[in-house]
Amino acid sequence: MIVEPKVKGFICTTAHPKGCEKNVERQIEYVKKMGSFNGAKKVLVIGASTGYGLASRITAAFGMGAATIGVSFEKEATGKRTATPGYYNNKAFDKMAGENGLYSKTINGDAFSKSVKDEVIDIIKSDLDKVDMVVYSLAAPRRTTQDGETYTSALKTVGEAFTQKNWNLRDNTIGEATISVADDNEILSTIKVMGGEDWKDWISALVSADVIEDNAVTIAYSYIGPKLTYPIYHEGTIGKAKAHVAKTAEEITKEYDDKGIKAYVSVNKALVTQASAAIPVVPLYLSILYKVMKEKNIHEGCIEQMYRLFHDKVYEGESVMIENDGMIHVDDLEMRQDVQDEVMDTWEKIGSDNLMNLADTEGYWMDFYNMFGFKLDDVDYAEDVEV
Ligand code: NAI
Repeated sequence: MIVEPKVKGFICTTAHPKGCEKNVERQIEYVKKMGSFNGAKKVLVIGASTGYGLASRITAAFGMGAATIGVSFEKEATGKRTATPGYYNNKAFDKMAGENGLYSKTINGDAFSKSVKDEVIDIIKSDLDKVDMVVYSLAAPRRTTQDGETYTSALKTVGEAFTQKNWNLRDNTIGEATISVADDNEILSTIKVMGGEDWKDWISALVSADVIEDNAVTIAYSYIGPKLTYPIYHEGTIGKAKAHVAKTAEEITKEYDDKGIKAYVSVNKALVTQASAAIPVVPLYLSILYKVMKEKNIHEGCIEQMYRLFHDKVYEGESVMIENDGMIHVDDLEMRQDVQDEVMDTWEKIGSDNLMNLADTEGYWMDFYNMFGFKLDDVDYAEDVEV
């Protein structure tokens, strides 16, 4: 069938198989161009199908030559409905890994469940013996725990409501968005879903099954960002969950000290992904940030970030590069003073009348469409494709 984008606000309900394949190919080409390096050899990526997890998997495989196991939760195509982009990305990744002689296995299922953890452990036992790196890159709306309780995460503030400028993606106007205050239950639920508990469960399960190497490295991703977005992010419900992730990193490292397992948090740059596009206020910040960083020639996408993380910060130096707050930072360019000064200056001035000039709305939408496999060069969108 002919697949076209169907966009509703911050979500696109279709995905193009060939476009998604192109996206994966582009990222592989980038890593190949940057060159191979020594690092982990057997890598498990949880949340491997899109965004930072996919870029991590590509860097592990095509940069470090690692065998990879990827876990993600994607939907297959049914009838006239296309599959989700991550589904096509996984297919493309497995195909290209195979063509390049790289081991890859992809599990589609709920990473929070015990059954998926058991399945992954069985695969490691039979195919790889042990893994030496675990990337935890989940961004999920809800989680059902072992006892059958389901928690739903909330994107809300903690303390008081927050009103800020907001880009209305439906009609390209600048208005205001008010983000309401979370109650205790919503804070707790967000920590349950996006905090570090499940990350630790994974490491404990891998250790108990003896399928993780001594001195293995595990990394989870976080975001801090500018003061402007603190109420909705860093100090909001999601920020509380991220604080829990940071605390969990310390706990994992301490608990498995005898095995030398080290858990790190990497603070990454703000980028358009399915997870970030859903947060109010953030898309406007992103499109201004894109403009400023592109003008300064320091803009990066997921793959540039993950290559820099693995190559520069984790594996190439004498030791892992941790900043004063105990975390790895690849948000350094985003947070540079001159970048933030310009972003804030623009933020003050921006309105519906000058939005197109002051922000990189085109770049934002390009990333958005590309994420679903649309608007990529070298893809014939008039062609009938198998979904
Ligand atoms: P994404 O939405 O592109 O990827 C989420 C991944 O999680 C997908 O592979 C999806 O299939 C998987 N997933 C979701 N629920 C699952 C489940 N129940 N079982 C198995 N897999 C499941 O998100 P993105 O943006 O790449 O986020 C990954 C991490 O990076 C998150 O921790 C996020 O907070 C963090 N991060 C994101 C930034 C951004 O600007 N996008 C900035 C800094 C950190």
